Amino acid sequence: MTGNILVIGALGQVGSELVENLRFKYGESNVVAADIKEEGTGGIYEKLDILDKDALRVIVDTYAIKNIFNLVALLSATAEKHVDYAWQLSMDGHFNVLNLAKDGIIEKIFWPSSIAVFGPTTPKHNTPQDTVMDPNTVYGIAKQAGERWNEYYFNRYGVDVRSIRYPGLIGWKSLPGGGTTDYAVDIFHQAKKTNSYECFLHADATLPMMMMEDAVRATMDIMEAPVNQIKVRSSYNLAADSFSPAQLAEEIKSQKEGFTISYAPDERDAIASSWPQSIDDTNAREDWGWKHTYGTKELVTEMLAHI
Ligand code: SER
Repeated sequence: MTGNILVIGALGQVGSELVENLRFKYGESNVVAADIKEEGTGGIYEKLDILDKDALRVIVDTYAIKNIFNLVALLSATAEKHVDYAWQLSMDGHFNVLNLAKDGIIEKIFWPSSIAVFGPTTPKHNTPQDTVMDPNTVYGIAKQAGERWNEYYFNRYGVDVRSIRYPGLIGWKSLPGGGTTDYAVDIFHQAKKTNSYECFLHADATLPMMMMEDAVRATMDIMEAPVNQIKVRSSYNLAADSFSPAQLAEEIKSQKEGFTISYAPDERDAIASSWPQSIDDTNAREDWGWKHTYGTKELVTEMLAHI
């Protein structure tokens, strides 16, 4: 990446770890963090509502921004409670950034998609890059629409927007909020506190999951890849390992004696059941050299060591 970097949604689960890594690689003064909250957590920080396109433009001009990572969204479960706002935030926010590139003001965009773009009639195992997509959450519908706009802006206006369909993301440095895959982070905090966990998904709700380090590396790698290696312009499937709550609990138990799990599925369980159980990410591996490093066992070891 050449030129300065702006991360919007910088205080979220992905943003907080991404900003740290970007600053380490590209230098403190070249990475601006922005989020809707009043205060940041150190380094250059700007309060920004992504729906305010004039305010966005001021930040882009002030810091001569050339690359934007737009991580703004309400996650799947929260979005169901604020349908209109979730849609507006995802779509209008995305357009505000896409249009800066269309107008030649910035050069490159990263925008995350999700396994939530898939739905109940999508093949559940080894879900292909190109397949049936019938998302039935507002979060998933917005991600699918966003993917279509990525491809449209690339084909029609030559906008260099790059995207990954994140699986459930797990890390110890930051907390998720309002997602369906959050249980897989929360479980470690509760394991530490009480050595037990009540899970809001059913025991066999298998989902694709990934350690945050891997996800952040993928995010930086796809942005660094030579332009001719980016052949999918909607969003790339990306995978590490898959597990169910029962399998995760077994692995925790084997590393933390006496850990117990119980189940009280709520509305998030229906969302989980509509998503794939495993993902075929051959395109990402072949096109720009994606490789994961954490399997379930390593992930559990890392989480237990740090929380
Ligand atoms: N992790 C997200 C969620 O659970 C999916 O992208 O909402």
